[in-house]
Amino acid sequence: MEDRIVTAHLMVEDGPAEFSLRPRYLAEYIGQSQVKENMKIYIEAAKLRQEALDHVLLYGPPGLGKTTLSNIIANELGVNIRTTSGPAIERPGDLAAILSNLQENDVLFIDEIHRLHRTVEEVLYPAMEDFALDFVIGKGPSARSMRLDLPRFTLIGATTRAGLLSAPLRDRFGVVSRLEFYTEDELAYIVSRTSDLLNVGILGEASREIARRARGTPRIANRLLKRVRDHAQVRGDGIITEQLAREALERIQVDPMGLDAIDHKMLQAMIQSFRGGPVGVDTIAASIGEESQTIEDVYEPYLMQIGFLQRTPRGRIVTHAAYRHLGLPVPEPS
Ligand SMILES: Nc1ncnc2c1ncn2[C@@H]1O[C@H](COP(=O)(O)OP(=O)(O)O)[C@@H](O)[C@H]1O
Ligand SMILES: [Mg+2]
Repeated sequence: MEDRIVTAHLMVEDGPAEFSLRPRYLAEYIGQSQVKENMKIYIEAAKLRQEALDHVLLYGPPGLGKTTLSNIIANELGVNIRTTSGPAIERPGDLAAILSNLQENDVLFIDEIHRLHRTVEEVLYPAMEDFALDFVIGKGPSARSMRLDLPRFTLIGATTRAGLLSAPLRDRFGVVSRLEFYTEDELAYIVSRTSDLLNVGILGEASREIARRARGTPRIANRLLKRVRDHAQVRGDGIITEQLAREALERIQVDPMGLDAIDHKMLQAMIQSFRGGPVGVDTIAASIGEESQTIEDVYEPYLMQIGFLQRTPRGRIVTHAAYRHLGLPVPEPS
């Protein structure tokens, strides 16, 4: 498992605190205005009709608030939420048990829904479409198929890899929403909200400094805040000033664009050994002692998002923006 301070995945140190930092109502959920507006309407309509909300698919990179939003939706609907994840449902029978225990209009939240086993997924189709479970009793020529009615429920699926979802599954969601990276303003707001919840004093400029380095991701912003708070308690008077935030972030090696030591190592290797590319991902992987898959899933996306890395058919290229950020002379065209 990754243990970088800037990973968007959940870390052990995020711990139970992360749960308590989650907003509980739409009004407290910052940013994602498009998704929020739509969801508000769907929720109100479902409540007026006293019906279950359409099935919802939320997708986007880790740490952007998919789990949080799912819980908010159930909370706003005033229904129970049952939470599970794709890989946790091992057999079709496990899913059947979960489904038959739901109450009318409940939310079933399946995280990492792209990792559902195929046989389990097949149980989900009639459940989503007809609110029914189909199963076969007996074997051989005497086998009979049976249908069991389920309560009407809302499935909320979350995934970081929407592309891996099978078409029949994707088609059964009435609402499909993509969560976007957050702006600096939104993240600064999240940082000050979290500071309030944690009872930490922080100046506005310090919130911005943390926001700028949080890679567009609330989970990272909250984690950086907690690290900075530790520094403020030990080295200052507890109040987080801009100066203190900057020192702390430098100490934990998160640079002003949110790059950490591994990002630097990778960019430097590409520049020094391969003149900035194009270079294949396997070659990069070998040169810094990492797995290609990790580079593609974990390191590259943010570097590409901020325009420091470009993917071409001939390999990856370090952009001029990255050279400038690293304080290196931009290469002459050869
Ligand atoms: N829109 C938001 N407003 C405020 N905090 C948020 C928001 N989205 C996410 N967070 C914070 O970020 C953390 C990670 O969000 P989470 O829902 O677990 O992300 P995901 O499920 O997409 O990986 C949450 O604990 C929450 O504190
Ligand atoms: Mg989640």
